[in-house]
Amino acid sequence: MCGIVGYVGPKDGVGIVLDGLRRLEYRGYDSAGISAVRDHTLDSVRAVGKLKALEAKLTSAPIHGSPVIGHTRWATHGVPSEANAHPHTDDALAIAVVHNGIIENYLELGAMLRATGVQFRSETDTEVIAHLIRHYYRGDLFAAVTRALQDVRGAYAFGIVSKDDPGVLIAARNGSPLVIGVGDNEHYIASDATALIKYTRRVMYLDDGQAAEIRADRTAIHDLNGKLQSLEVKTVDWDLAMAEKGGYPHFMLKEIHEQPEVIRNVLRGRVAANGADVALDDIKLAPEILVKCPRIFIVACGTAWHSGLIGKRLIESIAKVPVEVDIASEFRYRDLLLPPGSVVIPVTQSGETADTLEALRAARRAGATILSLVNVQGSTIARESNAVLPLRAGIEMGVASTKAYTAMVAAFALLAIHLGRLRGSLAPEAAGALLSDFLRIPDKIAACLANQRTILECASDPRFRDAASALFLGRAYNYPTALEGALKLKEISYIHAEGYGAGEMKHGPIALVTDKLPSVFIAPQSATRDKIVSNMQEVRARNGVILAIATEGDAGIAAHAEKVVYIPPCLEPLSPLLTTIPLQLLAYHISVNRGCDVDQPRNLAKSVTVE
Ligand code: G6P
Repeated sequence: MCGIVGYVGPKDGVGIVLDGLRRLEYRGYDSAGISAVRDHTLDSVRAVGKLKALEAKLTSAPIHGSPVIGHTRWATHGVPSEANAHPHTDDALAIAVVHNGIIENYLELGAMLRATGVQFRSETDTEVIAHLIRHYYRGDLFAAVTRALQDVRGAYAFGIVSKDDPGVLIAARNGSPLVIGVGDNEHYIASDATALIKYTRRVMYLDDGQAAEIRADRTAIHDLNGKLQSLEVKTVDWDLAMAEKGGYPHFMLKEIHEQPEVIRNVLRGRVAANGADVALDDIKLAPEILVKCPRIFIVACGTAWHSGLIGKRLIESIAKVPVEVDIASEFRYRDLLLPPGSVVIPVTQSGETADTLEALRAARRAGATILSLVNVQGSTIARESNAVLPLRAGIEMGVASTKAYTAMVAAFALLAIHLGRLRGSLAPEAAGALLSDFLRIPDKIAACLANQRTILECASDPRFRDAASALFLGRAYNYPTALEGALKLKEISYIHAEGYGAGEMKHGPIALVTDKLPSVFIAPQSATRDKIVSNMQEVRARNGVILAIATEGDAGIAAHAEKVVYIPPCLEPLSPLLTTIPLQLLAYHISVNRGCDVDQPRNLAKSVTVE
């Protein structure tokens, strides 16, 4: 959802900013641009398309300098075009601005500025900021920025430079993420710390309503009334290798293959020595809150919401606590009837999704305790929660989420067992059985990854690869797996796909079934396995093509499907951790075979920081 990078220091910042933009390209990739200040001049280069287009322009007409700001865009206002690409400048071409977020009152501010003779050159909401800063500029860039921000309504993270203030990089934040990287006599800014880890692991997370005047050797942070603020410098523990492809052709494939390690990480140190309890000391929440809570509310978006649907089943069946799950953008607009003592669980990879963040804030206002499942440490959602269960999935770069999803499901399973033990609703023997199976899940995921033959066959079979539409069907714990399998396919291969409860299929989707519509049935050993086989027969009777995901040893299933992928046996509540693997691989290989851009699918962004 737009990425921002900036540099100020003794080096030429253009290469550093471009390198940071490469790591942020997952946030948006419809256009990009960069501005550099040198010797009281401001040079800007912008290009439509991916970062490569900007790099090509910079190769033929290089610019240099410090400070430097750069931007990779995901269009909200105005089509992807060079005129709409950031940085945006004022009429005098002196001030350059990069922005992530939405300025809600840009029309009003634009009308005021037009009346003073300002000429606009783009359709964006951002350009108004460059002109507004110029409007208030009296020789001090930081003073002009803080004054301008008092007029602005909306969400923003800004990076700002001016040719008349060499050596100064301004950053400001309200609602969109921004970190300041602290180097040795140099500073950086970025939308997230992954853009900076090649240069520094020491970061300060800017808070809403703060603006920073950043120079090579010092940073002054103020609120918008000019009051000086102090920010702690934190150390990021991710390393550069996590942000590189490590020999895989795509981040998504690398991240799919990291899942055994990710689940080991989720479990590391969290299974008590007795093998029957979960040690979630890193939650840092008084156990009474979890013991007494009458109801849990899970809020999330996209893939994270699918993990929440599995979380509900896990918590209800294992810990016997009632759970409601909402799409975050719906939760915040309903009448929140949260019983006293409720716990709200936002689930998020990025920790920055605007709808999830606003759902969290609404829940806080309604008096709930917030326990978040978050992957990105230091993110806004992590910081605004009462407690956090870290997902430990490492950096996820592929826009289609894979390893963060399985980390979320695994975290919910641990939380459910923890709650069950704390509340006395789960016997030690049952907890022990779940946990010992859980500890074997990483090796079973590795077995799923080693067994790709059938998936590769399906991915190059025209009945799957060239389908206009596909159905994904599952029940119980694997109904959300069906939703997730369909989402993965549509996100990266652009095949229309629907996930459905297999039992609900006969109430509508069955009308679509012909020999042209492939169906993927998620049918592992479970209480509903036989019912799913009946649903498969209903599809076969209508010439439907079926791929089934079933458990090794289920000899009967092959008679009802064109193709079967077998997964190792496991307890039903943990089965989504295995069944999802072939579906991720199916989407990945179909996308590759269709020539799609796996890691940067059209119109999507990894971190959605607008509502
Ligand atoms: C975007 C991404 C999805 C992700 C969703 C929620 O739509 O493309 O992959 O599931 O946001 O993101 P979060 O960071 O909150 O998990």
